[in-house]
Amino acid sequence: MGMNQLLIVDNLVASYRKKEILKGISLHAERGEIVALIGPNGAGKSTLLKTIMGILHPSAGKIQFEGSDITDLHPHERARLGIGYLKQGGSIFPSLTVAENLSLASSSPNGNSNPERSPAPDNIFSLFPELAQIEPMRAGALSGGQQQMLSLAMVTLRQPKFLLLDEPSAGLAPKLVNRVIEKIKGLNESLSITILLVEQNIRRALSIANRAYAMKEGVISKEHLNPQSLSEQESFETILQT
Ligand SMILES: Nc1ncnc2c1ncn2[C@@H]1O[C@H](COP(=O)(O)OP(=O)(O)OP(=O)(O)O)[C@@H](O)[C@H]1O
Ligand SMILES: [Mg+2]
Repeated sequence: MGMNQLLIVDNLVASYRKKEILKGISLHAERGEIVALIGPNGAGKSTLLKTIMGILHPSAGKIQFEGSDITDLHPHERARLGIGYLKQGGSIFPSLTVAENLSLASSSPNGNSNPERSPAPDNIFSLFPELAQIEPMRAGALSGGQQQMLSLAMVTLRQPKFLLLDEPSAGLAPKLVNRVIEKIKGLNESLSITILLVEQNIRRALSIANRAYAMKEGVISKEHLNPQSLSEQESFETILQT
């Protein structure tokens, strides 16, 4: 595979205690892509993202990022290389204000330190104008949609080249799902962030994805090269019948 490969996951096996969850996963992401990862509950999607981030160590297989083997790196080392991770359920500090959450994210050791990266927005509010009005509010008091926007803003402030997003629209009303999905597309376009997107909102995820993988019971069951052309029926079959 060529120079455009940002991430290559090769035959990854990972377990919790003795239970094998990832049973030989191979996938890749090219620079600039949005890659969707869909699959039923319990398929191992979150486990895969945790393993790519280094939170869980694989028992076999390899992860390459920008041509280097990162399989044995710690999560903070992967973050320093430009891998960002939004965990399922988000990662805000509920007792702090929106402004404090943002300031923590931008002063993290991984933030604002690499001049080669696309510059951090001078003002995160130009990318996330909806956060400007709620800056003094306690993050725990925000609506679900606002919390997800804050979580996205926080990972963006760390200037990732590559973002792992675990169900960023979970639990939101359809209109808010659309806003989160559009925001993700916007981050990909305006900051050139490559994205691996786990979503239950299959139609919406496929509508912005360049490619998609379906995952079931710890294996990749299908790859879709042109997910935007799938009919509604086909996109549901992607997870139900593979
Ligand atoms: N910390 C853990 N300890 C033990 N088993 C776990 C742990 N986390 C997940 N599992 C198991 O691993 C399997 C895959 O879980 P995972 O969270 O990766 O699935 P998922 O595809 O992300 O599902 P969902 O769509 O519900 O988020 C499940 O059988 C789950 O019970
Ligand atoms: Mg999950």
